[in-house]
Order: sequence, then structure tokens, then C-alpha cells
Amino acid sequence: MLGYRGKIFSLFKPLIKMSSPFKNALDFGSGDGWFASRLQEEGLVTKVVAIDIQQRRECYLKPIIYSGKNLPFDDQSFQLTYCIDVLHHCLEPITSLREIMRCTQEYIVIKDHTYQTFLQRLFLCILDEFGNRGHGITGPYNYQKGCKWFKYLESEVFRLEHLIHPAECHPITLNWATSKLHFIAVWRRQTNDEPTTKTLMPRT
Ligand SMILES: C[S@@+](CC[C@H](N)C(=O)[O-])C[C@H]1O[C@@H](n2cnc3c(N)ncnc32)[C@H](O)[C@@H]1O
Repeated sequence: MLGYRGKIFSLFKPLIKMSSPFKNALDFGSGDGWFASRLQEEGLVTKVVAIDIQQRRECYLKPIIYSGKNLPFDDQSFQLTYCIDVLHHCLEPITSLREIMRCTQEYIVIKDHTYQTFLQRLFLCILDEFGNRGHGITGPYNYQKGCKWFKYLESEVFRLEHLIHPAECHPITLNWATSKLHFIAVWRRQTNDEPTTKTLMPRT
């Protein structure tokens, strides 16, 4: 049976498979590098660069450690950048998003949370506490309300290509309560007047 990360990977993989293999990718907030190593093992990306603000004791792929502000890469260095459950941990998610956009040549994949009500936000805080405290990761619980972050990507040259929401990331018994709180989406840098897709989550 697939665990939380296995489920996310099974949603992530088909989203990027059509455009793979990527010559390189940036794993933003890589943690222990589990996703980076899976992508390389499965031949979807030739070389993944992992970056984080802290290093874990045990890693599948060792990250570059940086301050959490400016990414130490040139503009459009990576064909693909992805961040899985990271943006809500960033002190300034929009600033981080801008840096991600700057460093990405073509595709951005974001897996994160979304909420609409106070209770949903509270539930996310509780889930995060259970999931992350063991790894020494705490707040700031900067969850996205509705799809607020999307407009920052769309205000630049990125267009939404795929959105999975609700996203089933937990065992069946929990999904009825949690799937609405997860999304995974792919944006692509636009090169010409390609038609835009509609955002499917409620805008607030
Ligand atoms: C919940 S973990 C997710 C780790 C990994 N993406 C995964 O799914 O296994 C969130 C990670 O984001 C990192 N993080 C927090 N703020 C960050 C920032 N400004 N830039 C990069 N990584 C950051 C944390 O150190 C932590 O490793």
C-alpha cells in the first residue's frame, strides 16, 4: 500500500511523464531528497539539484543549503522546478515563488495545501504538526487560501497546464476529509500566445 509520499509521486509522475526526460530539475525544499532520488531512478530527470534551508541527518540526496531567500542559481537554470509541501513552510511564500519562477526555464510543479474555512486551516495545522515535528520542521503555517498563489504565477509568463484538486494523498479512510485540502498543479512558461487553461479552484 502506498504511503503519503508514494501517493503524491503516483499523482506527480503522470503529470511530467509526457515531457520527460528532463535534462535537469530543481527540488525546492527537498527535505531528505526522496522525490529527487525517485525521479532520477525512474529516468524522468537526468540530474536533480536539491536545495533546502536545513540538512537532515539521513538523505537520499544531499541538498545545497541556503538562507531561504535568494536562490543561488542563474535565471532559467532548470527545465523543471518542483516543490512538494514546501511553500507553506516558507516565511514569504510569494517571494519564494518569484525565485522559483526566475530559476525555471519551462515547468513548475507545486504540491501544497489550500483551505477555505477557519476549521480547514486548523485541521491543516494539526496534520502538519503530526507530519513534521518529528523532522524538526515547524510553522509558519503559511497556507494558501483558495488559489491565491496562482495569480502570481499567472501574472508572470506561467500558465496553468494541469490541476489535480481535490488530490487524494492519504489512505482511503482519510481522503474524504483531507483531499480537498491538497492540490498538485503544473505550470508552463509561455513562449507565445498559447491558450490559457482555467483555474479550477474557487478564487478568494
Ligand atoms: C514538509 S517538508 C517537505 C520535504 C520534501 N519536499 C518532501 O516532500 O519530502 C518542507 C521542507 O521545506 C523546507 N523549507 C522551508 N522553508 C524553505 C525555503 N524558504 N526554501 C527552501 N526550503 C524550505 C524545510 O526545511 C523542509 O525540508
